[in-house]
Amino acid sequence: MIDLRSDTATRPTQAMREAIARAVVGDEQKREDPTVNELERRGAELLGQEAAVYLPTATMANQIALRILAEPGDELLAEENSHVLLSELGGPAVHSGLVTRGLRGVAGRFAPEQVRAAYRDRTSMHVSPTRLVVVENTNNSSGGRIWPLREIEAMVATCRELDMRIHLDGARLMNAAVASATPAAEIGRHFDTVTLCLSKGLGCPLGALLAGSEELMLKARRGKHLFGGAMRQAGIVAAAGVYALDHHVERLAEDHARARRLTESLAAAGLPVDLEQVETNFVQLDVGPLGIPRNEALDRLRDEGGVLLSTTVHPTIVRAVTHLDVSDADVDAASEAIPRALGVLARV
Ligand SMILES: Cc1ncc(COP(=O)(O)O)c(C=O)c1O
Repeated sequence: MIDLRSDTATRPTQAMREAIARAVVGDEQKREDPTVNELERRGAELLGQEAAVYLPTATMANQIALRILAEPGDELLAEENSHVLLSELGGPAVHSGLVTRGLRGVAGRFAPEQVRAAYRDRTSMHVSPTRLVVVENTNNSSGGRIWPLREIEAMVATCRELDMRIHLDGARLMNAAVASATPAAEIGRHFDTVTLCLSKGLGCPLGALLAGSEELMLKARRGKHLFGGAMRQAGIVAAAGVYALDHHVERLAEDHARARRLTESLAAAGLPVDLEQVETNFVQLDVGPLGIPRNEALDRLRDEGGVLLSTTVHPTIVRAVTHLDVSDADVDAASEAIPRALGVLARV
């Protein structure tokens, strides 16, 4: 079975397992785990921030960020299909008492004018003050699309002008950095806080980083305890993170090339895919024009094609995601199996 459901499907490589086995560990709650400390130091530098905190998941990183950047009753703005709004179980309301408002996005991006239009006057005693913006880069629901740096700069400038905080959900920030040939620090340094997930394209079994100023990361460390994320000999998994930063960043370009190659093959076979929209490691396939309900499409792909794809927030779009465990041979096999399973005849 070729698993293209998500880049979370990766298993640790043999070399990563060896790095895990060699890990020097200690009590990370006491800041005595040298491997966690090293990963946090590397993470801060990578993300263009003063400090970083190692966490079990990117969801926890996002939720701690929101908690330390806003007060209960404040309003948060994010793209309407963003992970913090759609896929974190109402966490902004549950954990931080935030009011949320979704902004219509194009390719996962929204404009400073939308933030200005949504911004609520803080002097009123009746409305929630608009305090926080979340940017997701790459954006998951739009198919791994990238926020160009100049748009980020304009968004951050608007937030500063309006005295608002801004968080980057950079779960897949390294995909954006590699694909746009922009150092991650150049992107991350503009934000108050940055989430980076280690268990997606970077190939770790688990783990995420939250980065920000020393002052904010002191608060985040308290949040980590509060949320139950403070661990003990966590260096055993943080070692995978250090290994990934050394070995699994530049290779993301291979995932991106494979996603493009798969898209080209599917397009040549007559399937509704758009190469223009493939900026990183996601391929979005619209089964609507084929007249196949998406669950049936996914079943046929699994049973007749031996390929696993997954649903998206869009009712007729399914996605294929390339990652560390997807080889060139897998792309070749999927290029043949997907049109065949969906009953589309190759034109070539
Ligand atoms: C954009 C984005 N942010 C955050 C997360 C949450 O990651 P985790 O599963 O590590 O909590 C995901 C997971 O898919 C994601 O796509």
